[in-house]
Amino acid sequence: MYTIIYFSPTGNAKHLTKKLANNLKPSEVTMFPLEFTDLKKLDKNKHLVLIHAIHGFNAPRTVKRFVRNLPEKKFEMVSLLAVGCSDIWVNDAVSLDLRKKLQRKGYSIALDEVIAMPLTFVMNFPDELNLKLIAEAEKKIEYIAQSLLDQKVSKRIVKTKSKIINFLGKVESPAARLFGLELHANKNCDSCSICWTNCPEKNIQPNKNGKPKYGFSCSMCMRCIYNCPQKAISPRISKFIPIKNGYSLLKYLKEK
Ligand SMILES: Cc1cc2nc3c(=O)[nH]c(=O)nc-3n(C[C@H](O)[C@H](O)[C@H](O)COP(=O)(O)O)c2cc1C
Ligand code: SF4
Ligand code: SF4
Repeated sequence: MYTIIYFSPTGNAKHLTKKLANNLKPSEVTMFPLEFTDLKKLDKNKHLVLIHAIHGFNAPRTVKRFVRNLPEKKFEMVSLLAVGCSDIWVNDAVSLDLRKKLQRKGYSIALDEVIAMPLTFVMNFPDELNLKLIAEAEKKIEYIAQSLLDQKVSKRIVKTKSKIINFLGKVESPAARLFGLELHANKNCDSCSICWTNCPEKNIQPNKNGKPKYGFSCSMCMRCIYNCPQKAISPRISKFIPIKNGYSLLKYLKEK
């Protein structure tokens, strides 16, 4: 029996989670969004599969906190699937911190893989490349599902250059807090509440006029910006960080 917990601010990892569940026996899988899952209510299970986006060559802060709070002996083993925009060496050290924390809690690690999907910030890759990435990621998920069923263990050898870039990437988390302070909603905001209900870091509160007010715990995940129905949210200074017209995986799934 598998518990799959996914952290997917903009939808890529969630899509692969559904594909993975379909490739395993769906009746043997339960799926939960990491940021809305109460650890106390999680049932004991054989195998936890943690699927998450990569931020700054690392697991996002939200994921690290989840693993820090994970009780011992809840699962027999854990698999880690990190979803970035590339599976080359730059992301190779992404799981190091999570592995250490999990192993200290007595968990053994089964699979430890990086999967490439479209980039979700700064720029949109060309459509053909995004379609190719999605097709290859779905194929890799089939292979991963089979590896889970065969109880395989990944051999991860992390080169020093990957460790260095992973270490440098840790500045992303404090920088993201500053990015959050730049965010604001313009007059098109109709106080629908979607942004503050869905922020994984609970960084948004409604002010007395029912407009979003941002705190100091943003993780730069892009969810509030891309999911605002009025396209009202933007940073005041770092305007290059969100993709200009947003990111929508749905567009590519329709084109397939
Ligand atoms: C703030 C931020 C930092 C990112 N850093 C990386 C990175 O270091 N390496 C990478 O491959 N992708 C990086 N990405 C891209 C996403 O990890 C990637 O597009 C992923 O598929 C998004 O998954 P999601 O849609 O489930 O959130 C970053 C995205 C954001 C928003
Ligand atoms: S999602 Fe957009 S419209 Fe809705 S409350 Fe937030 S900023 Fe306003
Ligand atoms: S404020 Fe927006 S970008 Fe920052 S963590 Fe929350 S949803 Fe993500």
